[in-house]
Amino acid sequence: MPLILNDRIEKTPWDSHVFGIETYEIKTLNQGVMDEVLKAPGHYTIKVHPLSSKKILHDNGFYYCDTLIEPYCSKRKFVKWEDAQADITQKMPLKDLLKISHGSYLHGRFHRDFNIDPKLADVRYDNWLKELYGKGRVLSLIYAGELAGFFAYSGNKILLHALGAKHQGRGLAKFLWSAACDRLFAEGHEEITSSISAINSAALNLYISLGFRFRNSCDVYHRLVT
Ligand SMILES: CC(C)(COP(=O)(O)OP(=O)(O)OC[C@H]1O[C@@H](n2cnc3c(N)ncnc32)[C@H](O)[C@@H]1OP(=O)(O)O)[C@@H](O)C(=O)NCCC(=O)NCCS
Repeated sequence: MPLILNDRIEKTPWDSHVFGIETYEIKTLNQGVMDEVLKAPGHYTIKVHPLSSKKILHDNGFYYCDTLIEPYCSKRKFVKWEDAQADITQKMPLKDLLKISHGSYLHGRFHRDFNIDPKLADVRYDNWLKELYGKGRVLSLIYAGELAGFFAYSGNKILLHALGAKHQGRGLAKFLWSAACDRLFAEGHEEITSSISAINSAALNLYISLGFRFRNSCDVYHRLVT
């Protein structure tokens, strides 16, 4: 859970740990909050409705980093693709999953932020995968007996997922994701959701092929105060 600094700005300690600076997420947008931001050095994130005015953000030095969209799919709408060679297991070692994960999230907001070292952005996602693995929330995706990717989730929410380079671009993802989503529905969830960058065309097309639709888009802005 985020450490609440006040009801308008929350600390994000998992990010400050990686980036070596204070990191915050702004929850309420007004000039009073913008004035607070200027007084405390650190890296700030704010997620806003895409149709809202961005003037106050631009006036206060915030810059655009990403647009997130929420894929969602009910059990009824789910399209399951079957391939006898696609399988899931929880037994693969973390180090093998990290090899696949490391450097995979180029579409993410931290990789697109020119103020963040991309190597540290990679570490952020490595750490997140380690944490989820420790909680038993990572499925390994196996194709033809070989580790092809992973699928990390919490409850009904898909949090991180990737295929290794060798298995990408071959139309295999829909079979592997079918097996993993099927597992989530079998656990009793009526709906599965996720969050992806709107520019991640491969992920977007993958979700469409599985019957997902999209909602709750938001624009993500950052600011570094030195
Ligand atoms: C997202 C990911 C798992 C998709 O796997 P993939 O092997 O690249 O995708 P596939 O070859 O199975 O193709 C999936 C669909 O996207 C399309 N596609 C693939 N690459 C594409 C690209 N670069 N641009 C547009 N569409 C693309 C395919 O045509 C296919 O659609 P179709 O079924 O209608 O033909 C993979 O790209 C990946 O691991 N990316 C890095 C990690 C990531 O971004 N994870 C998501 C956020 S956590």
